[in-house]
Parts: sequence; C-alpha cells; structure tokens
Amino acid sequence: MMMKVAAFLGMMMSSAVMAAQYDYGDALSKSILFFEGQRSGKLPSSQRMTWRKDSALQDGADMGVDLVGGYYDAGDNVKYNFPMAYSTTMLAWSVLEYRKGMGSDLQAAMDAIRWSTDYLLKATAKPNLVFVQVGQAQADHNCWERPEDMDTPRTAFAVTDKSPGSEVSAEIAAALAAASMVFKKSDTPYSTLLLQRASQVFEFADKFRGSYNDSLGQWVCPWYCDYSGYQDELLWAAAWLLKATGQPLYWNYVKGNIINFRPQIERAISEFGWDSKHAGINVLISKFVLKNINNFIPYIPYADKFVCNVLPESPLRSVSYTPGGLLYKSSICNIQSTTSISFLILTYARYLKKSKRIVDCGNGVTLTPTRLMQFAKTQVNYILGSNPANMSYMVGYGERFPQRIHHRGSSLPSVDQHPQRIECKEGTPYFQTGNPNPNLLIGAVVGGPDMNDKFYDDRVDAAHSEPTTYVNAPLVGLLAHFNKHPRM
Ligand SMILES: *[C@@H]1O[C@H](CO)[C@@H](O)[C@H](O)[C@H]1NC(C)=O
Ligand SMILES: *[C@@H]1O[C@H](CO)[C@@H](O)[C@H](O)[C@H]1NC(C)=O
Repeated sequence: MMMKVAAFLGMMMSSAVMAAQYDYGDALSKSILFFEGQRSGKLPSSQRMTWRKDSALQDGADMGVDLVGGYYDAGDNVKYNFPMAYSTTMLAWSVLEYRKGMGSDLQAAMDAIRWSTDYLLKATAKPNLVFVQVGQAQADHNCWERPEDMDTPRTAFAVTDKSPGSEVSAEIAAALAAASMVFKKSDTPYSTLLLQRASQVFEFADKFRGSYNDSLGQWVCPWYCDYSGYQDELLWAAAWLLKATGQPLYWNYVKGNIINFRPQIERAISEFGWDSKHAGINVLISKFVLKNINNFIPYIPYADKFVCNVLPESPLRSVSYTPGGLLYKSSICNIQSTTSISFLILTYARYLKKSKRIVDCGNGVTLTPTRLMQFAKTQVNYILGSNPANMSYMVGYGERFPQRIHHRGSSLPSVDQHPQRIECKEGTPYFQTGNPNPNLLIGAVVGGPDMNDKFYDDRVDAAHSEPTTYVNAPLVGLLAHFNKHPRM
C-alpha cells in the first residue's frame, strides 16, 4: 500500500505541470510592480517602489517641449518609444483579455498603462511630428549612473513628414488605441482623447511611409533599429483601431494590406516581439474572423501556421527549446520571446476554444486549445521555477532568484542610502562587483538562462541578466490567466 502511494506521488512529481504549484497572484502583483521601478519623470505619492526617485525632469526642454515621464526600457536610462509603445500595447492587451484574473491588481495594471500613455500623448502632441526617443544610447551606456543622477545628454529625437518613421508611429498608435479600450468605462474623456490621437498618429504613419532607420539610424541602431520593416506595425495599428472603433475603414485597410504587404508578412509569420508584430496581427484579427468562416483567409491559416511553428510536437516546428523545455530563440534577452509568444498561444487558445476549433499541423498532429494552454503554462512555470537551475527568473519571487541584474538603479546604492551624487564613472565599481544588488527591482524578469538552461547571475552579462519592459508586459496577461485558472 505504502509502495503504491509512493509510486503514485512519484508520477505526480515527474510531471512538472502537475506538480508545480505556483502563487500566480503573487507573481502577477510583482510583474506589475516592476514597472514602477522603470518610471521616468516625477513620481507620484502613490509610488510603492520607494528606492526610486524623480529623474529626467527636463526631458524635451532642448526642443521646447515637455517629454517628462514614460519608462526606461531596461537597465539603462534611455527612453525608447518604439519598445515602450509595444510594452504598452501588450499591457493593454493583458488587461483587455485577462482583467478577470487581475483582482485587486487591476488598478495597478491600469496605472502602469497610463504612466506610458500620458507620455505618449506628450510625444504626439503636435501634428506630423512624433518624438521617438529621449537620451543618447552611446553616452548613456558609457556611464553606470542612477537615473536620479543622470548628466548625459537628454536629446529628444523625432520623426516628421519629411523624415518618417512608420514603425514607431504606428506602434504608438496601436498602444493608444489599445489603451483607449482599457479606460473606456473608468475615464471616458481620457479614452476618447487616446482614441482620437491613435487615429491621427496612424494616419501620419500610413501617409508618410518610411523607417526611422533612415533618418535616425545612428541614434536608434543597433538597439531598437527596425529590422523587420514597418508594414507589420501599420497592419497591427489598423487592427487595434478596428478593435477599438469597429469602423469599416480599418477592416478595409487590414483586408487590403494583408495582401499588399504579403511578402513582408509571410517572411516572418511566426515572429512576435517589439520589432515584429506579424503573428500578433493574425491572432488579434482571429477573434473577429473565427465567427465568420468567409473571412478566415488568410488570418486563420497564418495563425495556425504560427502555432504549428512553435509547439514542440509539431512537424512544422521551427523554434528551439532548451533541454529543460524553455522556448529559446535568442542568445540576447531570450525570455522576451518566451513571454510574447506564449501570450499569443494562450490568447489564440481561448479564441479557438470559444469557436470549438483545433489546429491541424499535419502528419496526424492536432493541437487542442487545452494543449495550447498547457504549453503556455509550462513556459510560465519554467520562468517561475520549474527549471534545471531550480530558480525563479523573477526578482523577489520564490526562494532563489537573480541577485545581480544588469540594471543601473538596482545595482547602485539608492538615493536614500547614498544621497551624494554618483557620477558617470564613479558607478563602475558597483557594476563590476560580485556583490548582490542593494535595491530589489521586484518583479523584474531577466533575459534568462543560456541554451543549456545555465544562468550565471552576472551583472556584466547583460544578454542574460538584464530585465526589460517587453519581457514583463505580456507576462502580466499570462499570470493573470493562470491566477484565475491555476489548475488549467
Ligand atoms: C534598419 O537597419 C538595420 C541595420 O542596418 C537593417 O538590418 C534593417 O533592414 C533596416 N530596416 C529597414 C526597414 O530598412
Ligand atoms: C535542482 O533540484 C533537483 C531536485 O531537488 C536536484 O536533483 C538538482 O540537483 C537541483 N539542481 C540544481 C542546479 O541545484
């Protein structure tokens, strides 16, 4: 009898998905709290991550405009509006799709969105002019400095009708449109303003087509260059405007241009992240077209193909996995792909479930919505602790988590502890030390382990130890879902 129980327990334990009991609600709260640590500008009295203080209060002054606010993208102090807007779109999608799983964290999630949209409204205040970045990456990266002490140039860069940037402008339009739905009930005037601005910025992005690479390449590349073209962002923004307004104008745009942009779209059908919206477009549109079989093509075949390119058992699989089971696409900040792609897989699974469809990958392999949800859960559980290193990749979550994240504010003593200014190069010893960071950037998820599930917890190794807003934004939605459905 005892033997049988032991064997049964062993079976339970061997299935990571079954055995791992994570506090998804705790991880959710922390994943949202992280955004407070990335805030730029004047912090409100409600700020919970109190080791951070006001910073960059003159942003925009060199151009005679107010660009105070928004988020630092990662462990440095530059504001890059392209990934900031994508992170905002994904936070908004997380709230729109998964708000029921957010409980008392819903307000904090909405505040995290608004911190960005308030700034994006400033960046788009003038017609035919969109600010796309504040700060110079070279100068910033040359210093290891707290944002509160920054003395590097806070140059503001913009795109215009003469030197366009359709990718960054359209992503901002997508973020504003998505956020307009989040605030529709709670703050209707704000929501209306966001939506008006979204359509205006989209029109600018579409009318003056081009990549911001061409005019601002020396400032935005190689960090947030547009590698995958701007066509995906134009479609993505139109899809969000369609969702927000229901206007035929946007449906016609999406319908016509999914064909016009076919070479650009089919080239990267399974990509999704701050640069590539390709797979996201089809999953987003699928919600509408699954109701009407006449509109299936090409969105549903594209979305199905995306799923079949990802799932490990699919004959069409084109992505890799670490031996421990983590979706692995890049040696730099890999977990951004894991969270972005898992978000789409989970979201598509929910749409498929509603319309009672499954995905056929050929060779007798079919994927049910339940299987897709289980896949997403496996990825989330890996991040929270089901992995060969037995650690959580989220700061402040679980027993073991990264101690030396590549993050200036987290690794330098706080202003409370050390009120004196720490200049550019004076920060170097704090960068190089093997000591743990003094300030916990709670909720920050780092780039993660290497292709062999190894993690060295080394601050200098930014590729693996740096957190970013676009790792966390889709994770917020995933965690909210599993908070509501922990046994799924
Ligand atoms: C932007 O520049 C990068 C790096 O030079 C290049 O790989 C990419 O193709 C360019 N993108 C566009 C849309 O021109
Ligand atoms: C992780 O935990 C397992 C089971 O307790 C153990 O066998 C393994 O050695 C641990 N690995 C590491 C890297 O600590």
